[in-house]
Amino acid sequence: MAAKPKSRMELIASLAKRRGFVMPTSEIYGGIGSSYDYGPLGIEMKRKLADLWWREMVRKHENIVGVDTAIIYHPNTWVASGHVEGFTDPLIDCRQCKARFREDDLVERFAGGVKGADEPPLSADGKHIDPAHPAYALAPCPHCGTKGSLTAPRSFNLMFRTWIGPVEEAGEQVYLRPETAQGIYVDYPQVQTTARLKPPFGIAQIGKAFRNEITPGNFIFRTREFEQMEMQYFVKPGEEIEALHYWKDERHAFWRDACGIRDDNLRVYEHAPDELAHYATNAFDIEYRFPFGWDEFEGIHNRTDYDLRRHAQHSGKERDLQYFDDQTRERYLPYVVETSAGLNRGLLAILLDAYDEDEVEGNPRVVLRLDPKLAPITAGIFPLIKKDGLPELARKVYQDLHREFDVFYDESGNIGRRYRRQDEAGTPFCFTIDHRTLADQTVTIRDRDTLEQPERPKIDQLTNVLRDRLFAK
Ligand code: GAP
Repeated sequence: MAAKPKSRMELIASLAKRRGFVMPTSEIYGGIGSSYDYGPLGIEMKRKLADLWWREMVRKHENIVGVDTAIIYHPNTWVASGHVEGFTDPLIDCRQCKARFREDDLVERFAGGVKGADEPPLSADGKHIDPAHPAYALAPCPHCGTKGSLTAPRSFNLMFRTWIGPVEEAGEQVYLRPETAQGIYVDYPQVQTTARLKPPFGIAQIGKAFRNEITPGNFIFRTREFEQMEMQYFVKPGEEIEALHYWKDERHAFWRDACGIRDDNLRVYEHAPDELAHYATNAFDIEYRFPFGWDEFEGIHNRTDYDLRRHAQHSGKERDLQYFDDQTRERYLPYVVETSAGLNRGLLAILLDAYDEDEVEGNPRVVLRLDPKLAPITAGIFPLIKKDGLPELARKVYQDLHREFDVFYDESGNIGRRYRRQDEAGTPFCFTIDHRTLADQTVTIRDRDTLEQPERPKIDQLTNVLRDRLFAK
């Protein structure tokens, strides 16, 4: 029987593992569902994406500064933010096999009806499971098939809990942050005064966040541990809608122009009022056309003064959290517009978008057409053959370039194989040192996408060649 063709996600996951981008964690123990490690190529690419974001948000804007806050905050932070009460997913258990499901997954599954019943067991608006509906008793568990074994939906908090101190009961219960934003809100007065910022201003942060997701999956799309790249933009009340639209357009342009994602595969989706998170009054998602459908990888939210007001109430430090404008003598709680991107999810969108298969000289080739700025290796450096002094000269080229660029020296296998290995890693350029190099100090440059070798620059021009190509846009 012919093997089933692999989906694009399977192809990416397999390439990512084979080439050391991303691999399941702790595999010697069988791994732990949806936790991943980043290998040598993956970490380079992830850092480059994070650096690009940082340059775009912090370096390019005089009124945006960065912070790096703790992962464990005072637990009251999460009471104030509404996460203890509201950061929940409704879950349904099977009494028979103990499998656990998200309510929205079962709503989707039962929307088409249940065998033996006239109507689906859903609420009047069709958005929730109605456990009192007679059809619910006929609904089978999607895992074991037992009818009538599913419980009513129950709220389950997505925050990971842990304890401070050696004894669990005596210690203080704390949470691993489910978003990086709250660290910025509670620090904002200090950052604003030390950096002498006036609204509108932004505070940016890249860091880990944790959510006890019930249905993680789709490779690195939804994991329990992930990194966020967030920026909180503090404005005078009344200026938030303009800021929201400005940042929605800026963030869309970043993924398209700076990261090279095809615009056909990007769209901006505005949330309907009943889809908003508990803290937002308006929200846009930047969505990518993932193999399983359109889904978000960045959210732009109007959080109003919700978070600051709640922190003011819970900490009793309302005055500290207000901004005082010493020219107009006004005092107010700023409104906040947030841009919140997933670093891992953004990386996945870029990898999926870059993946391609074609033919070179009659042979199939897998190639990652990554933007040169994001490619883990910028240039491969090869001696044509392993003799006649070519390896020594190629090593010298490598030594000259590696301080500034991510270059990779490779002398093993024939030159075609070496090109293929770099194509799979997304390396945009390869320099080959051949016999002519010995005579005139020039090298060939092979372009990953055009496969052309249009010019032979001199070795001492390679730094400028790479700089030009990296900053071409
Ligand atoms: N501070 C707002 C906030 O956290 P969110 O829409 O819940 O908003 C923002 O998350 C982004 O974080 C998402 O667009 C996604 O890229 C990333 N993200 C959220 N949960 C994730 C998960 N379980 N795995 C990977 N990335 C996740």
